[in-house]
Amino acid sequence: MKTKLLRAADSAAAAEILRAGGLVAIPTETVYGLGANGLDAAAVEKIFAAKGRPQDNPLILHVKDASWLARYCEDVPPLAYALAERFWPGPLTMILRRREIVPDVTTGGLDTVGVRCPAHPATLAIIAAADLPVAAPSANTSGRPSCTTAADVMEDMDGKIEAVVDGGPCRVGVESTILDLTVQPPRLLRPGGLPLEELEQVCGAVEIDKAVVALLKPGEHPKAPGMKYRHYAPKAPVTVVTGDADCAAEYILDHIAPGGGVICFDEFAPLFAHYTVERLGSVFDKAEQARRVFDALRFFDHTGVSEIWAQCPDETGLGRAVANRLKKAAGFHVIDADRRDEKLC
Ligand code: TXA
Ligand code: MG
Repeated sequence: MKTKLLRAADSAAAAEILRAGGLVAIPTETVYGLGANGLDAAAVEKIFAAKGRPQDNPLILHVKDASWLARYCEDVPPLAYALAERFWPGPLTMILRRREIVPDVTTGGLDTVGVRCPAHPATLAIIAAADLPVAAPSANTSGRPSCTTAADVMEDMDGKIEAVVDGGPCRVGVESTILDLTVQPPRLLRPGGLPLEELEQVCGAVEIDKAVVALLKPGEHPKAPGMKYRHYAPKAPVTVVTGDADCAAEYILDHIAPGGGVICFDEFAPLFAHYTVERLGSVFDKAEQARRVFDALRFFDHTGVSEIWAQCPDETGLGRAVANRLKKAAGFHVIDADRRDEKLC
């Protein structure tokens, strides 16, 4: 199949492909999505085939606005409307009880569905023109880092899908925050582009799902099925070093092997001049770190590095999502530089 590159203004062409049961990669403010008509089981099946995605991993339905919630979800609590009012369009996915109209293949057989309204004008225009909810996982091949440019999508999907809509680089860079509203208190299933602190201003206390902070043991099942898979992983093994940034840098310098790669904050790059370096952005700029994190992970697959070491932001604000993506890439192989060796500081 020849994959077309569409311009952001070509919403009518993209909508036409979706209505005909085809696949179109769409830009969002978080990461690129691989879209199909979320109500068409045969079209949704093609997403799983193109990505090599396990069938039990449900997809997010992308909607025009909160007025579509009642079409696809049952028992929508007032809190969902309050959150949509405050944060949509934006990087928040809400898990709600689904209506029968949403096919099993879209929800991975669950009786809930993830719903979000993305903040990208091109994709909002496509959803409106198609007049359909668009089921879209991130547009990467399953297991690889998510795509934040149309070129990334082409690298993974060229020849497998009808079209990619080029909406420029993603503004946020990490996927949406996922909040389960079918339980009390609401539960954070994935930290993302909307910081937990902002959610808590509207929801009050939020419980954090265990799969967010640690590798699950065999037999343990996360609430978001996708959280159990090894994710975002470059080919070389990754070790994340948390704690004070100076201590982390010293720890990495002491332990890195010749031929190793480093993901570090900009301020520390000169220290690693003898290694292959990807900069994550300034230590003070978490928004930039979020935009850079997947690119940094993808970059190393084009190099021959034997191992990758990463500095890691603290867990406040967007740091929680950046740290989660780095730790997942590392299979939760994490060293705390502050505690591991106090003599370093
Ligand atoms: O920012 C994003 O959310 C991007 C853009 C394209 O919107 N999408 C995205 O989709 O990250 P995906 O499929 O890569 O990740 C969705 C996650 C998976 O971990 C999946 O298991 C979880 O959401 N999920 C989807 N529906 C769910 C449900 N009903 N219950 C629990 N988890 C669900
Ligand atoms: Mg994904």
